[in-house]
Amino acid sequence: MQRVVAATALVACLALAPGSATAEEPTPEALVDALNAVFGRHKGLRASHAKGLCAEGRFEPTAAGREFSSSPLFAGPAPVTARFSIAGGNPKVSDKARAARGLALRVHLADGAEHDLVMLSTPVFFAPDPETFVGFLQVRVPDPATGKPDPDKIKAFAEAHPETKRQAAYLAEAPISASYATAPYFAIHTFLFTDAQGHQKPARWVFGPAAGIQGLSEAELERLGDDYLAAELRERVAAGPAMWSVQLQLPAADDPLADPTVAWPDDRQRVEVGRLEITTVAAEGAPGGCDPLVFLPDNLAAGIEPVSGDPILAARSPAYAVSLARRME
Ligand code: HEM
Repeated sequence: MQRVVAATALVACLALAPGSATAEEPTPEALVDALNAVFGRHKGLRASHAKGLCAEGRFEPTAAGREFSSSPLFAGPAPVTARFSIAGGNPKVSDKARAARGLALRVHLADGAEHDLVMLSTPVFFAPDPETFVGFLQVRVPDPATGKPDPDKIKAFAEAHPETKRQAAYLAEAPISASYATAPYFAIHTFLFTDAQGHQKPARWVFGPAAGIQGLSEAELERLGDDYLAAELRERVAAGPAMWSVQLQLPAADDPLADPTVAWPDDRQRVEVGRLEITTVAAEGAPGGCDPLVFLPDNLAAGIEPVSGDPILAARSPAYAVSLARRME
């Protein structure tokens, strides 16, 4: 009997260990179902970041990047396929929404190798693990009677899971971006970068807009339509490339590596490892080259690995594959 109790306690401990699979861990299908329940299913479109715009450009690594890591990602300039987007599965969401902006990149390296970066304009995510991701969305499913979610359920969930409030708090303070090119982008999770000596170093990607972080005033927002971001980016890029300084933020000894709801303090050292230039944007009404692609957070160049123990990072690519399969139905 005692042995059974001990075994049960061990199972309970394992279930609490970060990154471990539990009996209740939602499947990739359940994660996409949770998104579909809130936003509906829209034929041929992504379950999240349904509204987006394809672009192309170039990643140019710096000498400091080559020094930081021997990954082929930093070997030399490489073409990039990009997709800018608005978070959520509503393809008609207004660009004025206080929602995160997304930037997905695929860097095309020599010999067909690739490196994907699938980023948001916030340094934190709203859920530390897939269970919380599903719970966060479940309380936002519209009530069939009112067509709206129940605010009391949303409040109760937030009180029980205070870590889910950090992303909304960041978005509430951040300006509504004037342009996709005036937002910063963060890959949020920690990745491990191998150097020439074979050491692995943890770091987080930060893309800082060369044009600066610029938002819009209430009056400016009122003058604009719901789809201003695409037109603005086409106009801007026709005049010259949109650029970002590509940096790696390095942790201090106690900074958490595997919790995407916790940002590292701003004063942490940053290394400028490259520059991103967006040089072409898909024309209005034209099918974008990025539309049929799936950008995968674990599609990484040699010498760069996901940190272990981050349950959100582990859950993402399988869910993206489910969303792709549903897009093709
Ligand atoms: C468990 C957590 C998450 C789930 C289940 C999830 C789910 C999804 C799904 C299903 C898609 C559509 C994929 C497709 O059809 O191609 C998507 C797109 C996207 N997600 Fe997530 N996501 C999660 C976390 C994150 C995080 C932490 C970030 C940022 C660091 C992020 C950024 C994006 C972006 C930028 C896109 C658009 C990609 C594109 O333009 O193709 N997501 N997500």
